Amino acid sequence: MQNRLKFNRLNRTLVATFLSAVLFSSCVSGQLGKNNSGEFKNGMVVTAHTFGSKVGLEILKKGGSAIDAAVAIQFALAVVYPNAGNIGGGGFMVYRSKDGQTVTLDYREKAPKKANRDMYLDSVGNVITDKSLYGQLAAGVPGSVDGMVKAHQKYGKLTWSEVVQPALDLARKGFSLTEKQAGELNRNKQEFIKYNPGKNYLINSTQWNAGDLLIQEDLAITLELIRDKGRDGFYTGKVADYIVAEMKSGGGIMTKDDLKNYQSIWRTPVIGNYKGYKIITMPPPSSGGIALLQLLYSVEPYPLKRWGFNSDSTVQLIVEAERRVYADRATHMGDPDFYKVPQQQLLTPNYSLSRMKDFNWNKATLSSDVKAGDATPKESDQTTHFSIVDQDGNAVSITTTLNNSYGSKVFVKGAGFLLNDEMDDFSVKPGTPNMYGLVGGEANSISPNKRMLSSMTPTIVEKNGDLFMVIGTPGGSTIITSVFQTILNVIEFDKSMQGAVDAKKFHHQWLPDEVAVEKDALDNLIKIKLQQKGYKIVERSPIGRVDAILKTKWGYYQGGADPRGDDTKLGW
Ligand code: DON
Repeated sequence: MQNRLKFNRLNRTLVATFLSAVLFSSCVSGQLGKNNSGEFKNGMVVTAHTFGSKVGLEILKKGGSAIDAAVAIQFALAVVYPNAGNIGGGGFMVYRSKDGQTVTLDYREKAPKKANRDMYLDSVGNVITDKSLYGQLAAGVPGSVDGMVKAHQKYGKLTWSEVVQPALDLARKGFSLTEKQAGELNRNKQEFIKYNPGKNYLINSTQWNAGDLLIQEDLAITLELIRDKGRDGFYTGKVADYIVAEMKSGGGIMTKDDLKNYQSIWRTPVIGNYKGYKIITMPPPSSGGIALLQLLYSVEPYPLKRWGFNSDSTVQLIVEAERRVYADRATHMGDPDFYKVPQQQLLTPNYSLSRMKDFNWNKATLSSDVKAGDATPKESDQTTHFSIVDQDGNAVSITTTLNNSYGSKVFVKGAGFLLNDEMDDFSVKPGTPNMYGLVGGEANSISPNKRMLSSMTPTIVEKNGDLFMVIGTPGGSTIITSVFQTILNVIEFDKSMQGAVDAKKFHHQWLPDEVAVEKDALDNLIKIKLQQKGYKIVERSPIGRVDAILKTKWGYYQGGADPRGDDTKLGW
């Protein structure tokens, strides 16, 4: 009898323990999948805006794929982050499926058919200031909508309308502005008025304040057309009419044929190895992927880990690598469909190592002494990046842009969205720096239907055949160095994903011959040491807004959302 009682008591305790264990584990993995370090098991999104991240997370929770989330985020950011999120611009996507298949999608803008190489020069061949940056003529043919349609057709699980709808809701019902956004909109008010006579968007009769509701009904109608008609909702019909009317009103040259003929392109990724990590990144017409690998190859033989984060040797080595790689970028890179980029040669690790041979630890190399290597084959600053991993482990890395903050500042009247000023990424005159101080030559000269060279570097990193990192950033010419340094911060300097993103960055791009540093990036002593060797160091505004995801060895996702913006990481 006593034994039976004991047994029952034991049984009840066991059952209770079992039940509470089940309950507890369902709280941990079912409800949130979050561990004590703020890492997530089921998936993650990191974007430049809270609403972008919320939309992405909701799509993932609904059973959508990483691509479904990416499409929903691309459209949502066009509403809630109009400086860079867009339907009137373009971008690049790197995709890695759960079983390691990789592909990239190039939805970069292209030059209209009526473009010509001297279109931004005056009669004596001088660059007309701002002509490639502002107004209708600065816009390339937008690629974002076609890109999203193609990505969704191939990898979407939810319906097209399910992934477009959240953006439409945000445009129609409105969303509340953050403090940063209110300030940015106020600062751009005069330019919006100047470039949009007659009709205005994103303008408030007084000042915008944090918390104000921004409703965009014309944009909602455009999104409705895209939701209902897919690519035709944008590239033909009413929206195309609005775009062409906009061109006519301001000296633009984009035609209905340009719009109808736009096609995004699936491209083979650029792939390389750094100390056993596999780097999967964007090929031309972005220079980003090739340049990133060249940078990694250039520093690979050196003991960065021993030297430490932002030590004098680390900074000097990185600067000298960047100087040489950006010289190559200026000469050798352009749209591969128009110019034979010596990709294989540039991606040979020995090529990068030989470029590093002539640098001297005692003295800064002068950029004027550095030219592009012989790689002939032996025969507002705003862009935005988002990183996503879904519940199956598929990963998407997208960088998308209008180029400058709010692009050309021109709204397509009636359709309610901004046009890019991506034409400035061409080399409008050989040797003349563009908005980012980048110079270029023949490889990146303007031709009808050609894509302008980019620095965008959406990247995915693998370790031992498994997903390791999803990363990218805006920042114009600094994109490549920010991605490079953030990867090193994790692999070499053992920082967490967030720590690597937070870490202060520096940048050299061959010309101008200077090291641009964020405030407090370098200790004073290190600065002095470098200056004594001849490095010109200039402090500049924050570099990059890296949004990245790291998969830990325990299989959890760690986010890095850049504190330089309103960037938000969400997981489940
Ligand atoms: O494609 C490019 O390289 C540039 N249009 C990117 C512009 C950019 O990152 C601006 N953001 N800060």
